[in-house]
Amino acid sequence: MDRSPVYDFRDHVVCVTGAGRGIGRAIALAFAGCGACVGVNDIEAATAEETAAACRRLGAEAIAFPADVADAVAVAAMFAQLDAAWPRLDVLVNNAGIEPVHSILDHPLEAWERTLAVNLTGTFLCTQQAARRMRAQGRGVILNIASIAGKSQPLYLRSAYAASKAGQVGFTKEAARELAAYGIRVNAICPGVIITPMTEHLRQDEAQMRRWLSEIPLGRLGEAEEVAALCLWLASDAASYVTGVAWHVDGGKNMA
Ligand SMILES: NC(=O)c1ccc[n+]([C@@H]2O[C@H](COP(=O)([O-])OP(=O)(O)OC[C@H]3O[C@@H](n4cnc5c(N)ncnc54)[C@H](O)[C@@H]3O)[C@@H](O)[C@H]2O)c1
Repeated sequence: MDRSPVYDFRDHVVCVTGAGRGIGRAIALAFAGCGACVGVNDIEAATAEETAAACRRLGAEAIAFPADVADAVAVAAMFAQLDAAWPRLDVLVNNAGIEPVHSILDHPLEAWERTLAVNLTGTFLCTQQAARRMRAQGRGVILNIASIAGKSQPLYLRSAYAASKAGQVGFTKEAARELAAYGIRVNAICPGVIITPMTEHLRQDEAQMRRWLSEIPLGRLGEAEEVAALCLWLASDAASYVTGVAWHVDGGKNMA
């Protein structure tokens, strides 16, 4: 499938969290392929650097910014480093996420709190830092990678994940409402099952996969590049009148 770059993000600075692998990596590479300068965040320094190097191989400027998005001090330091590298920030993609699997009946509190801290508080902390900079510029785009689990599709044994993702969807709408006054658009993206390391264990369960695939009108799982493609459109001026929406990227599984 041809997904060659049709957008021009030259002179744009984009920061993608959790971009060491999976969907975040695909998003970073997609923006790099369109000429953007890319700040590559991940909690794992080595994978962040590897993605930044891959962006540079596409001809883009890219720098790795390892940090835990759930750590307010680390996030503030990361945005200060971004300021030092580039004089503006056009796009923030809040993608970093974790998905622990536990029954509600014996869910460890620590795992519950960590999931909310990374997936939801991390989104808030990075949005706050980015929005302050974008307000000064009078424009910007924030994209929150949520999940169908937070909007329309209960999974199973993923209560903390679903709660954090629903929180991201609610936060997206609130942020879109408040930040519109400063020319900042905020949208959420709700992927279905996408082929990444996060879903490896799920994809190994053949019976569950057969059931899941039978409910997807397009008849297959998604690719990380298909999530990235929506990010490019939402970040571009082609979507200049689009804000506050949670977009499904799930092969038609949820049509509401
Ligand atoms: N893969 C899917 O099917 C799917 C579906 C719906 C939503 N999502 C969401 O998309 C996003 C990316 O998912 P993925 O499948 O690529 O996952 P993944 O596990 O393959 O990659 C997630 C990345 O985030 C990084 N990360 C984790 N905690 C972090 C932290 N505290 N600070 C910074 N980085 C951190 C990890 O090191 C990893 O590189 C997540 O928010 C996930 O919830 C994924």
